[in-house]
Amino acid sequence: MIDTAVSTQPTYKAVNLSPRRIPEIQRNPLAFLQHNASEHGDFIHYPLGLWEVFQLNHPDLIEHVLVTNQRNYSKNTVQYNTLAKITGRGLLTSDGRFWRRQRRMIQPAFHRQKVLGWGETMIKYTQNMLGNWEKAAQANQPLDIDEEMMAVTLSIVGQALLGLDLQAVASKLTQAVLVLLDYVVYRSQQIIPLPLTVPTSRHRLVRDGLKQLDKLIDMAIREHHEGRGQPDTILSQMLAAVDRESNEQMTRDELRDEVITLLVAGHETAASGLNWLFYLLSQNPAVEEELVAEIDAVLNGRLPTTDDLTQMPTVQRVIAEALRLYPPAWVITRRAIEADTLLGEAIPANALIIMSPYTMHRHPNFWNKPDAFDPDHFLPTAEKDRPRYAYFPFGGGARLCIGDQFAKVEMGLIVTAVLQQYRLQLLPNHPVVADPLVTIRPKHGMMMTVHRR
Ligand code: HEM
Repeated sequence: MIDTAVSTQPTYKAVNLSPRRIPEIQRNPLAFLQHNASEHGDFIHYPLGLWEVFQLNHPDLIEHVLVTNQRNYSKNTVQYNTLAKITGRGLLTSDGRFWRRQRRMIQPAFHRQKVLGWGETMIKYTQNMLGNWEKAAQANQPLDIDEEMMAVTLSIVGQALLGLDLQAVASKLTQAVLVLLDYVVYRSQQIIPLPLTVPTSRHRLVRDGLKQLDKLIDMAIREHHEGRGQPDTILSQMLAAVDRESNEQMTRDELRDEVITLLVAGHETAASGLNWLFYLLSQNPAVEEELVAEIDAVLNGRLPTTDDLTQMPTVQRVIAEALRLYPPAWVITRRAIEADTLLGEAIPANALIIMSPYTMHRHPNFWNKPDAFDPDHFLPTAEKDRPRYAYFPFGGGARLCIGDQFAKVEMGLIVTAVLQQYRLQLLPNHPVVADPLVTIRPKHGMMMTVHRR
């Protein structure tokens, strides 16, 4: 709910950032962004090395960049250029005409009806995971919930995307994807990164990981062409897609880039969201109790389906609230293509725009008790007074996450099935530290004991 006593108009402030703060940015970028937002306000301008940076922390400013004038803002930034070392020219990192063509061709595979069709796969892999928890529950042995969530979301996206059981087909694949994500973080922290062709041990691992993924994609494409592949996977739809404007199809390399993009974008994000959600519930037993009561009342002991999710508003609100406090994509960057003006201030061409869902989601002018875990933040009465871009865990405008529905359905089914069967408790004294990597991850894992309900 907006606190009407406080002005919600952003004001501009230029800040002289000392170069001595650069190591601090590398050490804890989230704390740096949060510090700037709370100390200097909603519209900050500072130099950072060669860049003119504008850090925006106001819904109107964010809407301007993501929606109103989005064509003037590209993804040609260190954040996305680093990711592109792994994902190539996939949807997440490409721009302009090429991106528009790819989005047109891929969008139908993420139509809500198609996403709902993956419900059974989502439940199947969740049930497999919960079956494996039985032993840990009996021995009271803690599990790293972060790892569990990474594994289950990778299996789900692997099946939906390629029709392959990644755990069975390539047990080393999870490792390969992790190596690649790790590399993205490492590379973004290097002032002058070495090219991947320089034979360091890390680069060798990365090149191996990329090779494994390439092999896997070739195998999936071969199975599809030989009629052995599962029909209606996201890959099979991409293979069949013909762009209605250009009449073109995707090349093998374009497909590879999109598959890697969807594997990377589609699993760690949802896993991170779930990990923090289970942590937050473990710290807020009253919310958990309300949630379990809703799940039990709707399901009455049977497994959840996608239809059930519409009957569970508390589940939806808890997911939204976890993504508010720990938005997996904690920073979104853009580069101004041409000069622009924001609130009458000049934004030069090439300026770097930084928008952080993490800081926006904790802005005290737009959120009542911003640091508290309170799913009532998403009651319709609270939502109706809030500007649209006070909350943007999935971005917005033309570049809105293509997998937002997929993620919401997946998270809904996983949360429901887990809580129906287990109670998760944080291991006493386990240090919980948010680490802003590609997504926000728990620095020391999330060690929890699981107890049968
Ligand atoms: C909780 C889970 C997720 C979160 C928080 C999330 C967040 C985001 C955000 C913030 C963006 C926009 C980035 C920007 O504008 O710079 C984005 C884009 C994207 N996401 Fe997601 N995402 C999630 C799940 C998924 C899933 C499940 C998939 C696919 C299976 C996916 C695939 C993509 C792709 C391909 C893009 C680029 C879209 C484009 O620019 O056309 N994401 N995501």
